[in-house]
Amino acid sequence: MCLSLTTMSEPVFYLSLSRARRHAPDAALWAAWLGAELVSRPLPPDRPGLVLTHAGLRLHVPGAKPTLWHPGLTHRRVRSRQPDTLGLVLALRPDEWVLDGTLGMGHDARMLARAGARVLGLEVRPAIATFTALGLHGLDPGAARRITVQCADHRTWLAAAPDDAVDHVYLDPMFPEGDEGESTNLAPFRHLPRLPRVSAATLRHALRVARRHVLLKLAPSEPAPHPEGMPPPELVGSKRQFYARWTTPASGALQSDPP
Ligand SMILES: C[S@@+](CC[C@H](N)C(=O)[O-])C[C@H]1O[C@@H](n2cnc3c(N)ncnc32)[C@H](O)[C@@H]1O
Repeated sequence: MCLSLTTMSEPVFYLSLSRARRHAPDAALWAAWLGAELVSRPLPPDRPGLVLTHAGLRLHVPGAKPTLWHPGLTHRRVRSRQPDTLGLVLALRPDEWVLDGTLGMGHDARMLARAGARVLGLEVRPAIATFTALGLHGLDPGAARRITVQCADHRTWLAAAPDDAVDHVYLDPMFPEGDEGESTNLAPFRHLPRLPRVSAATLRHALRVARRHVLLKLAPSEPAPHPEGMPPPELVGSKRQFYARWTTPASGALQSDPP
């Protein structure tokens, strides 16, 4: 696992210690390494933070139930004998680079890594980037070694990236308000201030930066966007997951090249 938490546009998050770990001699070192502020109880009520416990890092988001990192539905997706939908809709080839611009809990990044991709996972919230990076590493070190976690805003990253920097760009923003469903997997995110959905400008940059595909996850009833200057997307996915997919002209050429 490669972890880069240096680009932080969000407020500094806190690190605290559970009662059982309160004498941990390395706490200050951990906090400095993670770029967090070491605090004792009571925990700050106004911002997300992490608590170091014997079971791992616990994420605290104001208003949400504290939670340890968990694999969510990837547990089932890994055990299923069917190839994972994400790998299929990207027609993923071994060792291709996928930019996952909305890392979140890293569930999709884990499935992409297990399907053979190398993943650059961007997460704008440093507490979540740290939580996910360490959670993934503890559960699935093989997949985690193929995932680089960077704390960055995908809008800035994509605008600054050169053309054809990665093979695929994948974006899974929070669903529109009222269309979020009941999933407990992403419960803490619903208590954080909403971030903007993906804009047309970001999609245009994504299409420039991707050598093969741009994939945008859609809410069940959401129409696919069709920004000016971009080809119309295809609607792809499975019964439960819906995506808008843009295929680059270069990808077509690659597919028809002789092996
Ligand atoms: C719906 S969750 C993604 C879930 C993820 N696909 C998974 O498998 O766990 C959206 C995540 O994207 C992050 N995010 C939203 N906008 C972002 C941006 N502009 N740059 C980077 N991360 C962003 C949010 O903080 C949140 O963690």
